[in-house]
Formats: sequence, C-alpha cells, structure tokens
Amino acid sequence: MKTRTIADVEVSAIGLGGMPMSIEGRPDEERSIATIHAALEVGVTLFDTADAYHLHANEVGHNESLIAKAIASWGGDTSNVLVATKGGHLRPGDGSWYVDGRPEYLKSAAEASLKRLGGEAIGLYQLHRPDPNVPYADSIGAIRDLLDAGTIRLAGISNANPEQIRLAQEILGGRLASVQNQFSPAFRSSEPELELADEMGIAFLPWSPLGGISAAAGLGERFAPFQRVAEDRGVTPQVVCLAWHLSKSPHVIPIPGASRPESIRNSVQAAELTLSAEELAALETA
Ligand SMILES: NC(=O)c1ccc[n+]([C@@H]2O[C@H](COP(=O)([O-])OP(=O)(O)OC[C@H]3O[C@@H](n4cnc5c(N)ncnc54)[C@H](OP(=O)(O)O)[C@@H]3O)[C@@H](O)[C@H]2O)c1
Repeated sequence: MKTRTIADVEVSAIGLGGMPMSIEGRPDEERSIATIHAALEVGVTLFDTADAYHLHANEVGHNESLIAKAIASWGGDTSNVLVATKGGHLRPGDGSWYVDGRPEYLKSAAEASLKRLGGEAIGLYQLHRPDPNVPYADSIGAIRDLLDAGTIRLAGISNANPEQIRLAQEILGGRLASVQNQFSPAFRSSEPELELADEMGIAFLPWSPLGGISAAAGLGERFAPFQRVAEDRGVTPQVVCLAWHLSKSPHVIPIPGASRPESIRNSVQAAELTLSAEELAALETA
C-alpha cells in the first residue's frame, strides 16, 4: 500500500471512514468488524471516526468503540495504525446533529474519546465543526491545550474555511496537521481549502469522497467520464474517483466509508492507479 503523511506520521494513501458502520442503515457488528479487518489486511492504517458516529442517545462513541475493538481483535501488527477521531458535534438520538465548541466541553469529549480508543493519546483529534456560538479561536485553543497536555498526538480541523484554517494554524503554533472537508465529484466547492492545505503542507482528508453513503453506488451513472475511464482501465468508477482525489495533491488522503469488506478492498486499488493528464482533464469536465 502506498503511503502519505499527516504531519510526521506515515499512513496508507487510502483510509477508511467509519460512519456507515454506526449511523442509520448500519450493519450488524460482525460485518463491521469484518470490514475493519479487511481494511487492515489490505494495508489501511488510517481510520476516521468521531464520537458522534452513533444512532441512539445512549451510545455516544459507538464507532470509536467498534474501531478500537476491531483493531484489538485483529491478529496482525497494528502499531502503525492511526485512528483519527473528532469532537464538537453531537447527536441527541432523534436523527439530528448539533454542535458544541465550548472549550470545556471539547476537553471532556476528548478525554471520553481517549478512554474508548485506549492507549496513551488520541492519534489525531479533529474539531468536527465550527460552533457559531463560540469564537473559533476559543475552540481551537482547547485543541491546543489538548496537544500541550499530551491527550492528543496530532491536531486537525473539519468543515473549516480558509480563514479558519489560517487562524487554527496560528493558534496551534504551526502544528495544524490536517483539514477534513467535504469534497467529491458532486461537491467541489472545497477546492480553495484543498489548495490552501497543499500550499501549507497540511494533510487534506476529503469527506464523503464518493458522494456520500446513499450516492456512492451511483457515481458512474451520475458522472459519465468517471464511468468511461473506469471501463478503459478495468476498474470501478469509485476507484477512478479515489485516484482522482489522490491526483489533486500529495497531501490529499481520501477516507471512503464502507460497511462491507468488498468496498474497502476495492477502494484501496486507487492507490495503485495513476491517471493520465488526458484522463484527468476528462474527469474535470464531469
Ligand atoms: N467531518 C465531517 O463532517 C464528515 C461528514 C461525513 C463523513 N465524514 C467522514 O468521511 C467518511 C466518508 O464519507 P461517507 O461515508 O459519508 O461517504 P462516501 O465515502 O462518499 O461513501 C460511503 C459509501 O460508499 C460505498 N463504497 C465505498 N467504497 C466503495 C467502492 N469501492 N465501490 C462501491 N461503493 C463503495 C460504501 O458502501 P457500503 O456501505 O456498501 O460498503 C459506503 O456506504 C465517513 O465515513 C466519515 O468518516 C466526515
């Protein structure tokens, strides 16, 4: 498996997003564990999760616990695995989501995530979403304190605009490791953040890289050039899509979600697919 880096940490060029295994439509635990084990078997070393990836009110951290359990029960070496989690976004259990970016809340949420994930520190902790009721600098100040205290090893942000990326980098004293924003053929408006992360040498993790849980399967039908290149290359349109992400910058690390082992086994093929300039130009017209 080809690798990329988040700050000084080497991770697989394709990660695994954990959300489909814990929210609406999730599979049973056995299939989820098999999916995470399949990812480990094919060399995935980056797992993206969040305390908010759960369904019912009383199971905060469902996905963190699942990933921790699967990693612990896998037979192979997991010392190079980086689990990236997030805090500051919550689900009360009625299907809705809300934000809480208060520093004291973020610190307690990170401590709870660390307990679920185990180990001495959280590998990568990301502020899930800016809270309009809390100055962004205050939320990022809490992330800086978590870094300084050693509760988290790396710090990232999510759903941030260029101004927030620059502010976070300043408050963290140059230690911003990653930006996670929505980016896919269907949603390209995070291009400025992707370009800024590239310029700053910060990892960019596109979320919903295949268009999201319900749209991912239809990617080839919706975007004909992706289907055409896939047919030419003998791969799936989803693999072409992930290779397209990788071509955007050496700092891009897609985190496709999966709830079936075959999905992640297929997705990792993208790390080996280099698209030509002509193919990339055709994909830009999609
Ligand atoms: N920071 C944020 O605010 C935020 C928001 C949303 C998501 N995320 C993160 O980003 C991750 C990815 O986003 P997402 O899960 O919403 O959407 P996605 O990655 O665009 O799509 C996920 C779906 O794609 C399917 N899939 C994966 N690989 C495939 C392949 N090779 N061929 C065909 N289908 C394939 C999976 O199907 P199966 O389920 O059948 O395997 C899965 O349900 C999430 O899991 C989460 O970790 C972050």
